[in-house]
Amino acid sequence: MPGDKSISHRYALLGAFAEGTSRFSNFSTGADCASTLACMEALGAKVRKLDDGCIEIDGVGGRVTPANHPLDCGNSGSTMRMISGLLAPQQGAFTLIGDESLSRRPMERIRKPLSEMGAQLTLTDGHAPVTIQGIPLHAIDFTTPVPSAQVKTCILLAGLQSDGTTTVRESIRTRDHSELALRAFGATLTRSIDSISITGPQTLHAIEAAVPGDISSAAFFLCAAALFPHSGLILDGIGLNPTRAALLDVLTTLGARIAVLQLQEMNSELVGTVQITADESGLRSTEVSGALAAQLIDELPVLAAIGPYTSGGIRIRDAKELRVKESDRIALVARNLRAMGAEVEEFEDGLDVPGGQQLHGAVVDSGGDHRIAMAFSVAALRAEGETLIQGAESAAISFPEFFDLLDLVAER
Ligand code: S3P
Repeated sequence: MPGDKSISHRYALLGAFAEGTSRFSNFSTGADCASTLACMEALGAKVRKLDDGCIEIDGVGGRVTPANHPLDCGNSGSTMRMISGLLAPQQGAFTLIGDESLSRRPMERIRKPLSEMGAQLTLTDGHAPVTIQGIPLHAIDFTTPVPSAQVKTCILLAGLQSDGTTTVRESIRTRDHSELALRAFGATLTRSIDSISITGPQTLHAIEAAVPGDISSAAFFLCAAALFPHSGLILDGIGLNPTRAALLDVLTTLGARIAVLQLQEMNSELVGTVQITADESGLRSTEVSGALAAQLIDELPVLAAIGPYTSGGIRIRDAKELRVKESDRIALVARNLRAMGAEVEEFEDGLDVPGGQQLHGAVVDSGGDHRIAMAFSVAALRAEGETLIQGAESAAISFPEFFDLLDLVAER
């Protein structure tokens, strides 16, 4: 699997900000991480793609050079939200823009904590463009109102450069790649059960690292394999950070047989080989709600898309955040499942997808959303007839190799 998108973003940001030259292998090939690299290049970092596929970055040593043009974050919410925290305490003026989808996504969630730290940051009606007039910040103690690793990271990156101890508290634990990456780059952080603190200012130092394979990309292949009794896949080098790996438990509950064949630690991230074998009795049922919904947020579209092929259905709740991702993923999943002939009930914070349904091929709309395009490619595998996915090229946002790899493992 290609390198993890979340970890690649963080390695790119931190490597570009650190002192020295960092080198990353298996860096994400997706357009989102290219947006982060391009923004950091525009801010003075030097980025080289080496012949062996590695990415090498000369960092700016803690001081960026303001660009004389807006920084284009493309489709990437992670880029926009995390880079805002990095830039708010820097010297100079910055403007962050994004594509149509990103320009619809909520940014108040970063404006509020950064403003509390003293940042001068303005939004356009709660959205991008984001303008920042860099100014020294002070530490805060902040409780995030919605579980978001991007918001947590934004605050930590500002805290890294601010005098005093900044604490981020979260009631539902989100992915902790930033905490692990900051430590790998030499920062000191303290963690408690529900909070993370960083005392600034601190300097980061370049690292060499291999990016683990993306479990959220692997999810499409794991779910596809789970749909076909007797099929199996072995995926190696997959990131198995506990804050990301909940899908393996959910697939086990559904009745797939999962084994982790090998496990090692790389820069504090767990990496392993995952084997999936689909049982001949098929998939059962499951409910994803509460804290689990936040941890599985990127995997919910594909889980919902395989729901009709389970015996007892898939129920998703407490996942209102899905409505403000690259698309309204609840509405789009429901609409596309219905287009394929499925019965599905939509709620403000989730979906009920009854099991025991056979779908037919149809024209489905990705809404320009990479995870919707890939989720419905998986649903299409078991549908009767042909499915046409509009905007399928959006898969390249996180996983440009997706269709080639799917073609490679699918048997006809
Ligand atoms: C991400 C965090 C999640 C996730 C996104 C990547 C990250 O978003 O949906 O794909 O890398 O931190 P939120 O921070 O909005 O929950």
